[in-house]
Amino acid sequence: MEYRSQKVAYWYFAAALPLFVLQIFLGLYLAFSYTFTVPQAVVDVFPFATARAMHTNLLVLWMLLGFMGGTYYIVPEETGSEIYSEKLAFLQLFALLAIGVTALAGFFLGWTKGRPLLEIPPPLNYFVVAGALLFLFNVGMTMVRASRWTATQGTLLGGLVFLALLYLFGIPFYRNEVVDWYYWWWVIHLWVEGAWELVTASIFAFVLMNLTGVDRQVVEKWLYVEIGLFLFTGIAGTGHHYYWIGAPRYWLWIGGIFSALEPLPIVLMLVDTMNHIKERKNPIVNRLTWTYAVGCAVMHFIGAGVWGFLHTLPQINYYTHGSQVTASHGHLAFFGAYALLNLMTFYYAMPRLKGIREYDDTRGKYGFWIMTSAMMLMGLTFGVAGVLQSYIERVLGLGFMTAQSYMRLWMGATFFLGLVFLSGVLTTVTDLLTIRPKARA
Ligand code: HEM
Ligand code: HEM
Ligand SMILES: [Fe+2]
Repeated sequence: MEYRSQKVAYWYFAAALPLFVLQIFLGLYLAFSYTFTVPQAVVDVFPFATARAMHTNLLVLWMLLGFMGGTYYIVPEETGSEIYSEKLAFLQLFALLAIGVTALAGFFLGWTKGRPLLEIPPPLNYFVVAGALLFLFNVGMTMVRASRWTATQGTLLGGLVFLALLYLFGIPFYRNEVVDWYYWWWVIHLWVEGAWELVTASIFAFVLMNLTGVDRQVVEKWLYVEIGLFLFTGIAGTGHHYYWIGAPRYWLWIGGIFSALEPLPIVLMLVDTMNHIKERKNPIVNRLTWTYAVGCAVMHFIGAGVWGFLHTLPQINYYTHGSQVTASHGHLAFFGAYALLNLMTFYYAMPRLKGIREYDDTRGKYGFWIMTSAMMLMGLTFGVAGVLQSYIERVLGLGFMTAQSYMRLWMGATFFLGLVFLSGVLTTVTDLLTIRPKARA
C-alpha cells in the first residue's frame, strides 16, 4: 500500500465477503427446493422466487462492491495521488449497504419490481443511482485532480460509466412486454458481456502488470485490442437474447453471428495472460494470486466462451432457452469471470492493505481448488439437468413436471456439490479476513 486512502478498499472487500457467503446459502435453498419437497408452510413464508431474487441480487451487490473497492485500490496507484474524498467513499459504502439490506428485507416482504436481477423497486433504485453518481464523482475527481492518464485507468472509468448508464434503462416501467424485455437485456447482457468485461480487463491488466513487472506498454497494447473486440462482438451479440421475445426476425442472424464471435476476445485474454506470465520479470511472491489469475482466465474461457457458445446459435437455443442449460452457463460464467476476478483482486490487495508482504497461502489454495472444482462439477450437473429438460419438454413435448422428475437427481447432485462449494467459500472468506504473515522457517 502506497497511499493512505487506498485503505477504504479494505472495507469494501470486507463488506463484500459476508454477502458472498449469504448468496451461497440462498443458492443451496434453491437447489434444495428442486430436490426435496419443502413444506408448504415454509414456501408460503419464503417462496422460491424470493430466495432467487436474494441469491442473484446478493451476487450483483457483492461483485459491485468488489469492483468499487478494486477501483479505490487501483486509482491512487495509477494516478499517483490520494482519493479525492475518503469520507465520500465511506459514505457511499454505507449508503450502498443500507440500500442492499433494505432491498433484501423488501423482497422478503414482497416489495419487488419482479424483473429478474433488477427486482429493486422505485424509489429504492433512485438511491442506487445516487450511490453510483457519488462513486463516479469521487473516482472522476481523483483522476481529474491528478491529471495523469493511463489506458488502464481510462478503461476502468469508461467501463464503470457504461455500467452505471445501462442501469438507467432498467428503471422505467414499459407497458409493452416485448419492449420491457428488450431493454432488460440492455442491462443484463450489456453488463456482463460489455461493461463488466471492460472493468475486468482493466483490473486484470493492473494486477498482471504489477505481479509480473511486464512493461505497461505491452500489457496496455493488448488492452486496446481486447476492449475493441469485446465492444464489437458484445454489443451486436445482444441479439442472442432477441430470438424469441417478439423482436424482428433479423436478430436471429445478427445475434447468431456476432455472439458466435464473442469467445474471441476471451481466448485472446487467456493467451495474453499466459504470455505475460511467461515473460514475467519479477520473482514470485504469493503464488496464490497467480493461481487466481490463471484460474480466472481459464474459467472465464470455459464458462463464458465455451458454455456461452454452446447455446448461442438460434438452432440450439430454440431447445435450450430458459432451461437449466442457461443456469449451467450462468453459474460457470459468473463464477469464472467475475467471482474469481474479484477474489484475485482481494488476494492481491488485502495483504498489501494490511502491510503483509508474504503470507501463508495453504488455506487459500484449498479454498481455491475446492470452490473451482465444485463449481465446475455443478456446471456439469446443472447442464445434465438442462439437457434432460430441453429434450423431454421441447423435443418429446412432455409436460413440465415430467421433465422435473427426471431432473431431480441432477439437481440433488447440484445441491450436494453446493455443500462442497460452500466449504470452499468458508475457507476462502476466513482466510482472506484473517490473513497472516508467513512463518519464518
Ligand atoms: C462473463 C460473461 C458472461 C456471463 C456472466 C453470462 C451470464 C449469463 C446469465 C446469468 C444468463 C441467464 C440470464 C437469464 O435468462 O436470466 C445468460 C444467458 C445467455 N448467455 Fe451468457 N454470460 C456471459 C457471456 C456469454 C457469452 C460470451 C455468450 C456467447 C458466446 C453467452 C451466451 C448466452 C446466451 C445465448 C444466453 C441465453 C440463454 C437462454 O436463451 O436461456 N453468454 N448468460
Ligand atoms: C452452493 C452454491 C450454489 C447453488 C446450489 C446455486 C443454485 C442455484 C439455483 C438452483 C438457481 C436457480 C435456477 C433456476 O431458476 O432454475 C440459481 C440461480 C443463479 N445463481 Fe446460483 N447457486 C450457487 C452459487 C452461485 C454462485 C457462486 C454464483 C455466481 C458466481 C451463482 C449465480 C447464479 C445466477 C447468475 C443465477 C441466475 C441464473 C439464470 O438466470 O439462469 N450461484 N442458483
Ligand atoms: Fe448475452
